[in-house]
Amino acid sequence: MKEERSSFSGKLGFILAAAGSAVGLGNLWRFPYLAAQHGGGIFILVYLILVVTFGFSMLILELAIGRKTKQSSITAYTKLHKKFGFLGYLAAIVPIIILPYYCVIGGWVIKYMMEFLTGGGLEAADSAYFGGFVSQAGEPLIFFVIYLLATMVIVLGGVQNGVERVSKVLMPVLLLLSIGISIYVATIDGAWDGIKYYVLPDLSNFSMSTVCAAMGQLFFSLSIAMGIMVSYGSYVKDDIDLSGCVNHIEIFDTSVALLSGFMIVPAVFVFAPDKLNTGGPGLMFETLPMVFKQMPFGQVIGAVFFVLVLLAALTSSISIMEAIVSMVMDKFKLKRWIAVVGVTVFSILLGIPSAWGFGLWGDVKILGMDFLTFFDFLANSVLMPIVALATCILVGWVVKTKTIEDEITKNGEKFARKGIFRVMVRYIAPVFLIMILVFYTLAQFGLVNY
Ligand code: ALA
Repeated sequence: MKEERSSFSGKLGFILAAAGSAVGLGNLWRFPYLAAQHGGGIFILVYLILVVTFGFSMLILELAIGRKTKQSSITAYTKLHKKFGFLGYLAAIVPIIILPYYCVIGGWVIKYMMEFLTGGGLEAADSAYFGGFVSQAGEPLIFFVIYLLATMVIVLGGVQNGVERVSKVLMPVLLLLSIGISIYVATIDGAWDGIKYYVLPDLSNFSMSTVCAAMGQLFFSLSIAMGIMVSYGSYVKDDIDLSGCVNHIEIFDTSVALLSGFMIVPAVFVFAPDKLNTGGPGLMFETLPMVFKQMPFGQVIGAVFFVLVLLAALTSSISIMEAIVSMVMDKFKLKRWIAVVGVTVFSILLGIPSAWGFGLWGDVKILGMDFLTFFDFLANSVLMPIVALATCILVGWVVKTKTIEDEITKNGEKFARKGIFRVMVRYIAPVFLIMILVFYTLAQFGLVNY
């Protein structure tokens, strides 16, 4: 809706909003369990290489497409080239799939926060606690709906700016707290082995699945290939140096992810070594309460921690919901509140399988995965690479990278990684993305090991 298209107040406002969208459960909840599962140091190395090459290129590309076309993603691609309108719809499916299960995890965060705030948090350190919680029918569903409604109320009330302002103050606190917790974890007996596993790349742990997992994580964490950054780009003023902003967003996003790994991976070695490869989506919830139980003032620190995680998650889920709502409004010419309520009801329905996938519907598996893991796989490992591949073809070969480079440097700004950008978008990323998609397909038929 044109009349509601606002713009960020300036460079700082934009960086904070984009970082607010980027930093969320992807960094705190998803990154550590993937790092643990996919070889520790080698996963980190692959991830870091991808961030400064592929992640950088895709992030700046999406922002520039948004700023150039001044459209949300559903129409932005058509404006670049009329044959690529399908890309807008494809990119729109991604946040629609992610939002429901993101809110299920958000619900888990609320549950743990409540436990810590009401004095029962240390009981969550019991190894059977998490399993007991997620296998119930009621609580995971109720907390999921509460989290989703909280996201809805913020998006409906248009108070995103208020939330961003609060998180502007609180996110540095989260960073400091994470550093403090990481240092404490490093002092626990037995943590050193975990730290070594986490920082030292061991080539024998490398496999194609390490690359695939790191790639999917990059999409999720930077909020790329899901329509969000294109929309954000459309709100960025023309005189803002996109390349400089992208550096800040990447550094902040990656620092938070690395730090959460420092909190969680060594703790897994100490408290639950059997969970290293199998912890999956529950890893953060299972290990951190054990750390807090040992820590002086653990109950209070745990409470503060989960409040901050909740805020970080909310600044991301509002951006995911906003992306869907703005597309639905643009497409169907609906009033804002109707679009928001519609998206919420749909997300409740789509989220139920994920909320019950560890209990009531725990026996149902899709391609061997529980519902939540399946939706996560479908979005990050299948749809996002397809969206990214089509975007690279559009920009690298159809409209040509120069169109985007000109947008980035239109006021004489420096674009230091222009060479990397061009080679990535035209050659490396497409080949790489095709390899990943072929690999997944073969893995589904049992022809390679995932
Ligand atoms: N980028 C968001 C996150 O990391 C979705 O949580």
